Amino acid sequence: MAHDTLVRADEGSDPHTTEAARKAPEARVANDTLTVTDNRTGKTYDIPVENGTIRAMDLRKIKTSDADFGLMTYDPGFANTAHCKSAITFIDGDKGILRYRGYPIEQLAEQGSFLETAYLLLYGELPDVEQLAAWKDNITNHTFVHENIKKFMDGLRYDAHPMGAFVSTVAALSTFYTDAKRIDDPSCREHQIHRLIAKTPTIAAFAYRHMVGLPYAYPDNDLSYTGNFLNMMYRTTEQQYEPNPVLERALDVLFILHADHEQNCSAAAMRGIGSSNADPYSAMAGAAAALYGPLHGGANEMVLRMLREIGSVKEIPAYIKRVKSKEVRLMGFGHRVYKNYDPRAQIIKKVAEDVFGVTGKNPLIDIAVELERIALEDEYFISHKLYPNVDFYSGIIYEAMRFPIAIFPVLFAIGRTPGWLAQWQEMLMDPDHRIARPRQVYLGAGERPYVPIEKR
Ligand code: CMC
Repeated sequence: MAHDTLVRADEGSDPHTTEAARKAPEARVANDTLTVTDNRTGKTYDIPVENGTIRAMDLRKIKTSDADFGLMTYDPGFANTAHCKSAITFIDGDKGILRYRGYPIEQLAEQGSFLETAYLLLYGELPDVEQLAAWKDNITNHTFVHENIKKFMDGLRYDAHPMGAFVSTVAALSTFYTDAKRIDDPSCREHQIHRLIAKTPTIAAFAYRHMVGLPYAYPDNDLSYTGNFLNMMYRTTEQQYEPNPVLERALDVLFILHADHEQNCSAAAMRGIGSSNADPYSAMAGAAAALYGPLHGGANEMVLRMLREIGSVKEIPAYIKRVKSKEVRLMGFGHRVYKNYDPRAQIIKKVAEDVFGVTGKNPLIDIAVELERIALEDEYFISHKLYPNVDFYSGIIYEAMRFPIAIFPVLFAIGRTPGWLAQWQEMLMDPDHRIARPRQVYLGAGERPYVPIEKR
């Protein structure tokens, strides 16, 4: 493999958007500190500021007495806590900017391929011709799964949701590849990375086939990554499946757009589970489970269900009313980081046009466009800075491509696999990393004696 070392967390650029973070080290002066006065004691503390952050452990020095544990931060949902340094993905949520390893998402989506993007995320640089050929070869050689994986999937209920099937099958892979426990061995890690990126489309397609009761279609290694996935989804009696090149490319772009998104819920799960030195299959099953939820990668499925429920353009105002009264959420809207248009949603709108050119227009697009127009003019959405996110339009494209709604989160998971693996590797290589173990603010009962059952 061409790049034998992977980029470490502190080797990239732009780790933060703050001015402090952009300052060159030599430009930093002694006043890069935060002075805090504890009004409980009158004591003043100077806390170093680095990369626009303070170290939470520095707060522990702030105590009211020697017996005091020291100050902690309380941050539900990690809304303002950096749990790692990273050099993989940069987001400026106010400006609507997304870059992988410095490359704007728009350029990668326009000119790059998914496998090239996966390489970039994992190795820190775009591959040259030879590196890309070797990388594609490695991925292509691992697309098949052990026959017992098929039997494992057969054991799931006849109508199993493909995402549940995906999560459990990825976890089951750890029992097939027990070498994956050697997480400190770079070549062994790389082997598991090839396997995971190669096998996720196979598992996804098998999960779909199981749900609809069709025989599994085996990988065709003469096709591209996405072409082969479409083959495993849709091939029936033909000798060789021929993917439509426009749809093949559209899916490749959608996978690029989903490939990483810095410290989201599932990436944090991947790092959290991986921090206990679990093997990557177990960690990725946990990450995929986190993605499954409707507030994260499950939102694309929920958007489609919502658009169908709305049913027609004239019903939109009534639905918006329900959103504003907090009876329901407008799925596919809002983001923890983006307080501006999600750049991925912009690109997806363009991809939709290409896809509809082949499949015909999905009528739900009219409802979605009008919903977006009304929402973006509405005071509630303006004041809450709620814009369409990646999931708002992706489902409409997937549906036009004949993907059943239940498989939408699995498509997200295929795209996100290299991102999870890049986050996992970076975490393992970061000398600062430790087992993830947050603190709590205990507000429960004090010590009390056990009460025998007859006295309760
Ligand atoms: N519809 C209506 N109101 C909303 C929405 C929405 N989609 N999202 C946030 N709000 C309101 C929320 O009610 C709250 O209002 P108030 O301050 O008046 O109580 C305020 O905005 C802040 O909401 P929050 O839940 O504290 O924000 P968050 O940063 O914790 O949540 C989110 C982010 C993505 C979970 C949320 O916006 C949401 O539930 N969106 C819908 C689900 C969705 O589309 N998820 C996909 C996210 S993008 C793909 C991915 O990376 O997974």
